[in-house]
Amino acid sequence: MAILVTGGAGFIGSHTVVELIQAGKEVVIVDNFSNSKPEVLNRIEKITGIRPILYQADLLDKPAIDKIFEEQNIEAVIHFAGFKAVGESVQKPLEYYHNNITGTLMLCQSMREHGCKKIVFSSSATVYGMNNPVPFKEGMPTSATNPYGYTKVMIEQILSDLYVADKEWSVILLRYFNPIGAHESGLIGEDPNGIPNNLLPYIAQVAIGKLPCLSVFGDDYDTVDGTGVRDYIHVVDLALGHLKAIDYSLSHTGVEAINLGTGNGTSVLQILHAFEKACGHSINYKIAPRRAGDIASCYADASKAKEMLDWEATRTIEDMCRTGWNFISKNPNGLE
Ligand code: WQD
Repeated sequence: MAILVTGGAGFIGSHTVVELIQAGKEVVIVDNFSNSKPEVLNRIEKITGIRPILYQADLLDKPAIDKIFEEQNIEAVIHFAGFKAVGESVQKPLEYYHNNITGTLMLCQSMREHGCKKIVFSSSATVYGMNNPVPFKEGMPTSATNPYGYTKVMIEQILSDLYVADKEWSVILLRYFNPIGAHESGLIGEDPNGIPNNLLPYIAQVAIGKLPCLSVFGDDYDTVDGTGVRDYIHVVDLALGHLKAIDYSLSHTGVEAINLGTGNGTSVLQILHAFEKACGHSINYKIAPRRAGDIASCYADASKAKEMLDWEATRTIEDMCRTGWNFISKNPNGLE
């Protein structure tokens, strides 16, 4: 019996595949390489000694997805595949809704037709929107401020309705906070296409000299130093959370939303200085206007994951910056 990982060549997907393999699971990856590279498969093999089965396919191509279920004995799915750039989603709403929503519908239809009713979904803290108080807790109302966020809210609803219609389903909605860092080996890590949207890959590219200066989006928020506060979580801690979630899913039915965060908030300037310690030199930055859609503070109430999955994040901000710096130092031009 195998675990199908959609988007398994991506940043979080690849780290999760490594932990699944090292926990003895058989893994099948489906990825269209729209935001990842085939080289990741070589890196996963170098780390684990095992090369997962790969299907290069798009979730919109249902016959291709059906082929996977016909050829492989899939017992559960971890669903990462989707577009995820907030700003881009505002410019390209139709592409985001079609790719993320229709792709998920094709996947779930194929799962249902082949009797596979266990799914762990890559959701996001972005579903807590701008009106909930921190720390964010799973029972809070969800909303969005951009098409990317709406795809996460809508897919959580679709999967919840699937369980209401058929109680044999197991649905786990993992709400990630801000995943950063890299595997200790430095063989896999965050390798975005083009100019990074997110803070840490941008800081890393300034640190290595690929970009000249970080723009800090606002220093007038009601936070410890005026800059945005987020709940940064080590990507390996996040991957281990998926392992716990899939094991829970295999022995339960129902729908559960679960935060995967540390419960701690760190500001932009605090993480910038932590990265300076990791790389051993100062990082050039300037204060810039706030970014539209940003909230001041976002961090998790992480108690449900501990209670339900016996999981908690253990890696520190220093671990996240050290491993992130190690990855980009070893891969200055990304995975080639
Ligand atoms: C973090 C902080 C920025 C860049 C988003 C999505 C979330 C998930 C992670 C996909 C904020 C500040 C950033 C920069 C900056 N996406 N910043 N200069 O916005 O918390 O979350 O990415 O899985 O769903 O919502 O992450 O890294 O973009 O920003 O000052 O060049 O860094 O204002 O305070 P965010 P981020």
